[in-house]
Amino acid sequence: MQAMIIYDSVYGNTEEIAKAIRNAIKIQMDTKIVRVNSVNLSELIGLKLLIIGSPTHGGSPTEAIQDFLNQIPEASMKDINVAAFDTRLSTRLVKIFGYAAGKIADNLRKKNGRLIISPEAFFVKGRKGPLKEGELERANAWADDILKNYSV
Ligand SMILES: Cc1cc2nc3c(=O)[nH]c(=O)nc-3n(C[C@H](O)[C@H](O)[C@H](O)COP(=O)(O)O)c2cc1C
Repeated sequence: MQAMIIYDSVYGNTEEIAKAIRNAIKIQMDTKIVRVNSVNLSELIGLKLLIIGSPTHGGSPTEAIQDFLNQIPEASMKDINVAAFDTRLSTRLVKIFGYAAGKIADNLRKKNGRLIISPEAFFVKGRKGPLKEGELERANAWADDILKNYSV
């Protein structure tokens, strides 16, 4: 397997985005999608591309995503293309707390991952969703950009 998308999702919106990304990536490479609570660290070995996505909870990734990131050994992302996304509300108030995607990206970069695209946000209309119009299409376009930036 070459690419893996790891995500968390409480209400299904981040999962929808993750699946849209998977559908675009899998056209070019073998791609596995897995919810964070079912992933095994050993599955990261030999990956070429790792994409991690999370709902924004209190300005950060979910606890499950944070726990998973904390388990990834130092420097183990060397030579792996990495990318991060989140889902979030578009209200102004939440800006104070920050967002999940940047924090995921920082973690992967610290472990020597090759961040090949800016962390991306996809918007929900309310806490439970649904996604705003056009977000699945944006996810598709973001995945296409990942493929363009991907290096072996
Ligand atoms: C406990 C909790 C905390 C949240 N905190 C934030 C936040 O700080 N900023 C934000 O934009 N959205 C926040 N939200 C809204 C989530 O971003 C939204 O529920 C999520 O994008 C939906 O994705 P999901 O369907 O994959 O769970 C929060 C939601 C929950 C349940």
